[in-house]
Amino acid sequence: MKIVTVIGARPQFIKAAVVSRILRQTPDCKEILVHTGQHYDENMSDIFFHELEIPMPAYHLGIGSGGHGAQTGRMLEAIESVLLETKPDKLLVYGDTNSTLAGALAASKLHIPVAHVEAGLRSFNRKMPEEINRVVSDHLSSWLFAPTEAAVANLANEGIAGDKVYLVGDVMYDAAIYFGAQANGDTLRKFDLKPKQYVLATIHRAENTDAGARLHSVFAGLNAIAEEVPVVLPLHPRTRAALTREKMLEKCSPNLRLLDPLGYLDMVMLEKHASVIATDSGGVQKEAFFHRVPCVTLRDETEWVELVELGWNRLVPPTDAESVQAGVLQSLRDRHDRPTPADLYGGGHAGQAITRLLQAA
Ligand code: UD1
Ligand code: UDP
Repeated sequence: MKIVTVIGARPQFIKAAVVSRILRQTPDCKEILVHTGQHYDENMSDIFFHELEIPMPAYHLGIGSGGHGAQTGRMLEAIESVLLETKPDKLLVYGDTNSTLAGALAASKLHIPVAHVEAGLRSFNRKMPEEINRVVSDHLSSWLFAPTEAAVANLANEGIAGDKVYLVGDVMYDAAIYFGAQANGDTLRKFDLKPKQYVLATIHRAENTDAGARLHSVFAGLNAIAEEVPVVLPLHPRTRAALTREKMLEKCSPNLRLLDPLGYLDMVMLEKHASVIATDSGGVQKEAFFHRVPCVTLRDETEWVELVELGWNRLVPPTDAESVQAGVLQSLRDRHDRPTPADLYGGGHAGQAITRLLQAA
């Protein structure tokens, strides 16, 4: 089996680390890694290749940042060239970024079957670029690897043939188990934090960073929380740029600790020991559950609905600072037991299942 894997953004490096490791151990299997260059800062890209032992990509397309059309278009052209040169049997993509869409589109036009990991997630909000990327990628795919029952149901509702859909569990859970076990450094000491005495936050969604009002609500809320409990926030470059643009960086409370983006292993340590996680990230919402930390999702909707239903995740649309503050403080004070089904995201073997199914195809 010759498979081209297209990745380009931070969460895709983490997901691909899981499957790529298994593909490398599989006889008669050759994976050709293509990095679109959507993320390119050292701490948004290279650090994950080193920490998670991902091989150097065979092709680095160096696309970089840009508007949706320009960025996706440049990727499409460059990926097509790679596919024409390498002639793979299959193409593998992850998640819902512009790199996912470009990979799926380029391959399907060349009649190369597409495998989509993290298929079937829906926010039902077509204003999110990710929702468009997911829907299109799913409809172009021949193998849809769904992480949850809810994702399987979403695909059925869209009329995608059931024999293309496989409930395999979540590769991020595999990552949390396999790579999470390697996270045992002195992260807390490095950042002068005490276990269960801080809130961890991450913010990067376009709807929270690009609209000035939402950005102000989120950060005014986090600043108010920081008056009661330290808040630590590894800052996505998009959010740093937005805060700079809005002249908000200098207004942040000293108890709101803004860090540069972290590597996965430091991030796992901060997640495990947080008292609450406040985030708009898809991946971080689930990692909070993997480490049994309550989460507040600062969005209008979430794709990971099962965590809201179980009470591990509280959905708080950041319409104003008071909502953000109240949502996080309420979660800090909540002490009730929450059901924790063991197999919600599979058994930590999604990577093996995906590899087996692709090989058998
Ligand atoms: C992208 C994905 C999003 C995913 C996120 C993971 C799309 C449409 N969005 O959002 O689904 O949740 O990645 O982190 O694909 N930048 C840098 N250095 C970098 C990367 C980005 O400075 O290494 C800055 C640039 O100013 C860039 C901005 O961040 O314009 C946004 O980057 P982009 O990749 O377009 O979108 P993300 O917000 O990262
Ligand atoms: N992450 C990281 N360092 C950080 C912030 C996040 O390693 O500073 C990891 C996080 O643990 C998770 C993944 O990046 O595994 C989530 O990526 P992100 O939030 O950028 O994207 P999303 O999941 O929302 O698409």
